[in-house]
Order: sequence, then structure tokens, then C-alpha cells
Amino acid sequence: MELNRAIPNATAASVPISIIHQVVDHALLAPSGDNCQPWQYAWNGQCLRISHVEERGHHALNERNLASELSLGTVLTSIEVSARSVGWEPAFHLTKALGSLGNEPWVEVFFTPGASETESLLSALAQRCTNRLPYLKKPFDDEVLQRVHALSTPEVRVRALKVEDPALVNSIARTESILWQCRRYQSDLLKWIRWTDRQTLQSRDGLGWRQLGVSFAQVQALRPAQWYPFQSVLNKLGFLRSYRASTRHLLRQSAGLLVFTGKSFGPRIAVNTGRVAMSTWLTVTHAGYSAQPLSLSSLGLFYHRLGFMSEDQATVFDALDVIMRSKLELPENESVLWMFRAGIAPVLGKRQRSLRRSREDHFQDFSAPI
Ligand SMILES: Cc1cc2nc3c(=O)[nH]c(=O)nc-3n(C[C@H](O)[C@H](O)[C@H](O)COP(=O)(O)O)c2cc1C
Repeated sequence: MELNRAIPNATAASVPISIIHQVVDHALLAPSGDNCQPWQYAWNGQCLRISHVEERGHHALNERNLASELSLGTVLTSIEVSARSVGWEPAFHLTKALGSLGNEPWVEVFFTPGASETESLLSALAQRCTNRLPYLKKPFDDEVLQRVHALSTPEVRVRALKVEDPALVNSIARTESILWQCRRYQSDLLKWIRWTDRQTLQSRDGLGWRQLGVSFAQVQALRPAQWYPFQSVLNKLGFLRSYRASTRHLLRQSAGLLVFTGKSFGPRIAVNTGRVAMSTWLTVTHAGYSAQPLSLSSLGLFYHRLGFMSEDQATVFDALDVIMRSKLELPENESVLWMFRAGIAPVLGKRQRSLRRSREDHFQDFSAPI
């Protein structure tokens, strides 16, 4: 990955502001956990600074800002695809503040003129979205798999894995359902749910009920669960059982999992994982596939290694770890970093796709004369 390449000497002042606007608009389309959109962009005429907005990124499933670092990787790949399509080459300088709390920029992006590419992935930037509906149960096309495997880097490997084995399917369904059994995960998720169209349109962030892949009535039934004891009762009354059954169905209908693995971990590798994951997501989108991250099952494995899981949860993650390792034939020193389910699916309608806040909400131009 082209991170922390030598920072170009050439002044970047010649980058037209219209290009910066385009690049930021594309960056805003990048995914973020629960669509929290935790990024602030500042252009000073020389470089584009990207800062993490801690209050937006704060989430029980964002331990050590890992989810934010993955999201940042997807942002950087979006910037690269966007800038290259109009003849500019970005160089990303990850700062010492990467991964830290506070408002210091995590990345500085410098642009130099580069060869213009007819970038097929450009159209995928706007097409890509998270599709939580069942897919069409068709296997991956061999050619697409080859393209996906070629996106592996020395640090981050991309692997496709079929999800036929009931033990694997059950294990993922169990880990995903921890979302509803852990008060912190559940309440941080519900904060981002937009229960009505009005809320969705007003906030332009979070998860609109139409993006969740379930009916209006099913979403509304969860509203009282903002008071967690109600969720506990729902869980006992069969909510967990039906959530696991529906996760198993979603998995079986998918072409398979796209799994990102690596040998070490830290903020830089998390960003690189996000970059490889986004290249993969754009590549499969371009080929007509849909995808949905399965973060609790994958990031959870990592949080488990750090000792953040309760004893009960640890048992479930241990079981998943064993299955994933044997299916992927992972050596001892390599671990799952992130994963998606993917497959061919009908294109989502406009209202089933998540919204973004405006450029004005995220971007400041300090190069403009006052
Ligand atoms: C780090 C990260 C983790 C995510 N985890 C999940 C997940 O576990 N389940 C899911 O359905 N979507 C997940 N998403 C997808 C986001 O919810 C989605 O990107 C966001 O709502 C914006 O929607 P879009 O992808 O359709 O543009 C994740 C995204 C990121 C960047």
C-alpha cells in the first residue's frame, strides 16, 4: 500500500478546488460503522487533512478506534479512485495521531499531477452500498475471485470462503447475535437507528429503518428495547432464535465470505485492511455483487484476543476462531481482521440506501481568501 510515501515537494496549490470538492464528495460516500460519518476534512491549499470526530466514532464496537481505522482505509481508497480519475495522484501521510483520541488529523493527503486513468471503479464508488437483504445464492464467478485475490498485499490477504458448512454458519450466527446480548453493543447500535423516514431525512446519518432489511413493524418492535431490560425479555421470548435463523439464511444465500487476514495488527494495518477491503468491495460491486460487513464476528475475534469479551462470549468466539482457521488454513501467526458476506443481489432502491450529511458539514476550506 502506498501509505506514507515521500511527501511530494511540489506545491499542491495548483490543485483546483473543484477537484478537492470532487474528492471530498467521493470520500463522503465511503462506509462507516452504523453510518456514523466520523470524518472532518480541511483543505489548506497544500494538503487535505482528515481528522476523526471522536464523539461520532465513539461506539462499544469501536474499541481502540479499530472500526474507525478500517473506515479511514475505505475513505483513502475512495480518494485514490476519485483523484486518479481526474489525473491527480494522492500520497497519504499517516500522522502520529493516527488512532488516537482528540482532534489532531490522522492523515494528510498531498496531490501531484499523475496520468489520468479511465477508472472503472469510479462508477462503483456511487453504486457501492451495504445490502442487508438475502442474496440470490449464486456462487462467485471464477474471474471475479481471481480479481479479488489479486488485491491481496504483503500485509493483508483477501480470501473467499464458501459458507456451506453448518458449523461455520451456526458459529457466525451465534457471534453476530451477541449484538443483542451485550447491553453496550445493543445500546450503541440503537442510538444510530433512525426509526422513521423523517428522522432519516433530517439527520442524513445513522441507519434508516429501510436500510436494515426488515419490515417497518419489525423495526418499530425494537423501539422500546432502547430500555435494555425490554431487549432481555425479547431475547428470552425468541428474538435471539429468530435473529440467528435469519443470519443463517442470509449466509446460506450468499456466494460466500470475503475474509481479510493479516499477520500483525495496529492502526496502520487496520487502515490498510480498510483499503484492501474497499478495493475488494468496489471490485465486486463493479461485477454486480452486493456485500455486507460482518464486523461483530470478525472484529470480535480481535477484541476477544485483547481480552474484551466476557467468559460466555469468549467461548463462542473461540469456537468461531477454530473453524475459521481450519477453513482458511491460517497459520498460527495469521488472523482474521475483517470480513463481508457477498453475493449477487437485485440492485437496492434509492430509499434502501443510506444517506450522507452534506459536504458543508464535513469540509472546511482554509485556502479561500477571507
Ligand atoms: C468498520 C465498519 C464496520 C461495519 N460493520 C457492519 C456490520 O457489522 N453490519 C452491517 O450490516 N454493516 C456494517 N457496516 C456498514 C455500515 O453500516 C455502512 O457502511 C453505513 O451504514 C453506510 O452505508 P453504505 O455502506 O450503504 O454506504 C460497517 C462499516 C464499516 C466501515
